[in-house]
Amino acid sequence: MTEENKAAENVSAGEAASAPSVKRSKRKLAGIIGVVAAVVVVAGAGFMVWHDQPSFCNAICHTPMDGYLTTYEATPGESATDKWGNEVADASSMLAPVHAQEGITCVQCHVPQMSEQVTEGIGWLTGSYEVVQTTDERFVPEEKALSDLTAARGIASEAFCLNSGCHANDDGSAMTRDDLIEKTSYMKRNPHVEEHGEVDCNECHKAHRASTVYCSKCHSDATILDGWVSYKEAEALEPAAVSE
Ligand code: HEC
Ligand code: HEC
Ligand code: HEC
Repeated sequence: MTEENKAAENVSAGEAASAPSVKRSKRKLAGIIGVVAAVVVVAGAGFMVWHDQPSFCNAICHTPMDGYLTTYEATPGESATDKWGNEVADASSMLAPVHAQEGITCVQCHVPQMSEQVTEGIGWLTGSYEVVQTTDERFVPEEKALSDLTAARGIASEAFCLNSGCHANDDGSAMTRDDLIEKTSYMKRNPHVEEHGEVDCNECHKAHRASTVYCSKCHSDATILDGWVSYKEAEALEPAAVSE
């Protein structure tokens, strides 16, 4: 069965408003069990090493993962394509390729948690996960928020980025909000100043699509860096959810 068919199955089942989850056919399930069995066999031989490679994610479970790998492999400073198939003027506005340059793998950001993996595994086997159709007619998972990534690890969104292992100051101490404010103080509407209360980092910083200047939702004079998009432009990029 092709990827389109699989996804189309999700779409049509998803359209039936009453169906809470999307079931896959038995034939499909048998195929998946085969894959899982193959994975178990490989497990003896350095499975975890393979698991941590970016290519693993789209080779196994994550069928619709190609768009993510593409963003990860993009070159900062050059134009790229986002996970939805939209053009990004400068890949450096996406977190994934910027961190790939530093040798950060998918699982260093998406730190595997047993609870999440079990839920994802069951979701994959039963086909009960939601997808959106991209501008180039692929299907990708619905967008997650940074808080979804950090919830299972029990850390605050902010600690995802601001910790001594990731964003540290020259003296090795973890960066603070004040350090960030200092770094972007040259910008009109300093994005790190909490002028109107807390704004989640992820409202602006996007991993697999162009980052967004959230403040431009209301302030038309907010600085928009190369490759970044305004709030309005960001809204226009989002594909319509097909699973509603
Ligand atoms: C720099 C950290 C980072 C790296 C590296 C990274 N991601 Fe992500 N990823 C995120 C964040 C943050 C989100 C939440 C949505 C967003 O900000 O775009 C996310 C979201 C996702 C999602 C959820 C669906 C969605 O669109 O939100 C998938 C699937 C995903 N990433 C796959 C991958 C794969 C596969 C790789 C490696 C090829 C990877 N990610 C590398 C940070 C990262
Ligand atoms: C309102 C939008 C917005 C929000 C919210 C936001 N940022 Fe930023 N951030 C930016 C912009 C714009 C830049 C400048 C990017 C550049 O120079 O390429 C930036 C730069 C950064 C940098 C790079 C600093 C440097 O020069 O070394 C880090 C690290 C960072 N942000 C972390 C965070 C964290 C952590 C949060 C949440 C606590 C956050 N940001 C919230 C917009 C935002
Ligand atoms: C929902 C709309 C909205 C968003 C989003 C928004 N602002 Fe504002 N902001 C306003 C309004 C309205 C005012 C003027 C009223 C007031 O003084 O409180 C204002 C005032 C300000 C001021 C005081 C100076 C002035 O121009 O009056 C600053 C600084 C500011 N905003 C920065 C930001 C930054 C930084 C962001 C992004 C993190 C942001 N704003 C996001 C609506 C918004």
